[in-house]
Amino acid sequence: MSFLDLVKKRYSCRDYMKKEIPDDMLGEILEAARLAPTAKNSQSFKIVLIETEKYKEKLLDIYDRDWFVSAPYVLVVCGSKVDSWVRLQDDRSHYVVDASIVMDHIILAAVDNDLGTCWICAFDPEKTKNFLNLPEDFEPIAMTPLGYANDNPRDKKRKSIDDLIINKD
Ligand SMILES: Cc1cc2nc3c(=O)[nH]c(=O)nc-3n(C[C@H](O)[C@H](O)[C@H](O)COP(=O)(O)O)c2cc1C
Repeated sequence: MSFLDLVKKRYSCRDYMKKEIPDDMLGEILEAARLAPTAKNSQSFKIVLIETEKYKEKLLDIYDRDWFVSAPYVLVVCGSKVDSWVRLQDDRSHYVVDASIVMDHIILAAVDNDLGTCWICAFDPEKTKNFLNLPEDFEPIAMTPLGYANDNPRDKKRKSIDDLIINKD
């Protein structure tokens, strides 16, 4: 599969099968996350791997959608301001950028293994922090269920290239 075909295949999956994910497949997806680039190679992220069945009620408390708990796993990418790179000129910490790249590696590696995912950021951040019992400086940035899709891809509604690209003159 070409990279562009992989990108086209990805969609936000909002229903999953109960089917187990082989350990080596999960390992490959986590390896893709481990190899993600981070600013100044700080690698100041953690991935919380949650077995959905064990924590169904807690998960529904942080993001209340039935489909959210229909896959075997939920993965939460967390970032830390403490060790991440900060741009001097405007004091901007890049931990959210780093964590987002990690999540995208997870999501594209999942597609490559015929698994479905869905970016989720509309979770309750405080409840999530309490539930995950994270080290103090870490905060949850994004999460996704991980499992075999039980729904169908929809057409991608996207702006045209002309709407998105500015040719600098
Ligand atoms: C940063 C980010 C946060 C998102 N948060 C949610 C979310 O909380 N719940 C949800 O159902 N979808 C969420 N989405 C999925 C988007 O709605 C989806 O990617 C977009 O509508 C395009 O559809 P597609 O992913 O199927 O191509 C999120 C996507 C991104 C990139």
